[in-house]
Amino acid sequence: MGVIDKKYDQMFGKSIAWYERGKTAFAGGVTHQSRFTSPFPVYFEHAEGAFKYDVDGNEIVDYVMGNGSLLLGHSPKSVVDAVKDQIGRGTHLGGATTWEVEYAEQVKRLMPKLERIRFTAAGTESTLLAMRIARGYTGKEKIIKFKEHFHGWQDYAAIDSGQAHGGIPRAVRETVIVVPVNLKRVEQVLQTDNRVAAVIVESNGAHFGTFPLQNPTFLHDLQDLCRKYGVLFIMDEVITGFRLSKGGAQERWDLDPDITTMAKIMAGGQPGAAVGGKAEIMEVMAFKGDPEWDREKRVAQGGTYNAQPITAAAGIAQLREIENGNAIELADRAAKRLKDGFNEAFMKNEVVGHAHGLSSLVQVNLGYDCNCDRELCTMPFAEIYQSMPAEKTRALRRAALVNGADGMDWNGLCFVVASAHTDEVVDRTVAGFSQALKDLRTDGYV
Ligand SMILES: Cc1ncc(COP(=O)(O)O)c(C=O)c1O
Ligand SMILES: [Zn+2]
Repeated sequence: MGVIDKKYDQMFGKSIAWYERGKTAFAGGVTHQSRFTSPFPVYFEHAEGAFKYDVDGNEIVDYVMGNGSLLLGHSPKSVVDAVKDQIGRGTHLGGATTWEVEYAEQVKRLMPKLERIRFTAAGTESTLLAMRIARGYTGKEKIIKFKEHFHGWQDYAAIDSGQAHGGIPRAVRETVIVVPVNLKRVEQVLQTDNRVAAVIVESNGAHFGTFPLQNPTFLHDLQDLCRKYGVLFIMDEVITGFRLSKGGAQERWDLDPDITTMAKIMAGGQPGAAVGGKAEIMEVMAFKGDPEWDREKRVAQGGTYNAQPITAAAGIAQLREIENGNAIELADRAAKRLKDGFNEAFMKNEVVGHAHGLSSLVQVNLGYDCNCDRELCTMPFAEIYQSMPAEKTRALRRAALVNGADGMDWNGLCFVVASAHTDEVVDRTVAGFSQALKDLRTDGYV
């Protein structure tokens, strides 16, 4: 047994019993595919600010941050107060509410290009709805998506997204055209197939930016291609929304998508998400009083929990703080300090690898370095796959955990930074990371 696994067993021993119980409760032992790990996942009990605490009482600096939903850190006062205030006034009023309108107005203030929106309960539902709207509006059936790009776990999105394909009907697969991240290949498809409704893209590249895009040029060129061939341009801003700037990637790079999908930060850590876009397109969801349209052609959407009050309260509170405060700046600054610290640790420990990433997302790759500007990484996709296979990625996450920090693993480790990560917390993380590199070397991973 290597040094990382030994430390892991020692530090997180009490999690083993929870995993044994989890295995009899959950299909596959866990209730989210990303929580599956070997030899067992760490079970957390509570969290505050930049930290989370596991069942052994370890204090872990958290860079998963609610899978990217907590820009202010865990349980910020503004969000906690808003939720407490709301919960006593009803958890579901079964009708249109004042807060859903206020919530929508709050989102639209930050993303002014969204002329109309609809709420959903998760990012997965948002991309499902966005694709349906695109089909309904254009009368065409196919969707172009990029290889490895992740838009949730619904059937159309799951194809070639780094997830397994079991249970996805062939008929669905036939309507999704997967292309490499290459504009020429997109254009080839558009030239030869006139049944494409839309192109959907992860605005900072696949898996939180682990597979980076050459933004903003890539997105602008993609938008131009969509306009040229009359297909809709869907920006998935589930990760980038309210993070890359107050108005997301579209504000930061001045893009004008037809449809935008959002989730995570917009819901303040609660289950909630949205689709927005141009009024003419979004209005395919409207009732017109024409029975043929209303019953047959209209794009339908339900959802018991759309803009449910706790989500609305938490979402408004977090977005208001982002709008009026400096949370994005603080998170960006902390991420820069973390990224610089990691790159210095690579150098000092003479380990090949590097950290890069945009805004408050820091991507760590072991085994490949490039002369990128550490923001828009130019690493070839083949190198990402080759340098970070699943087992090495998991080892990196375990090495980070035993040295006091947790991040999101997928062909690399992503550190999702929040405004709660102070300089002191960041410096402590960097020191732990330096030890993690030593441990990885001891165990032969680098
Ligand atoms: C870019 C992107 N789109 C969609 C989703 C799906 O969101 P959810 O997990 O809320 O269903 C995710 C989740 O990580 C995502 O990263
Ligand atoms: Zn790079």
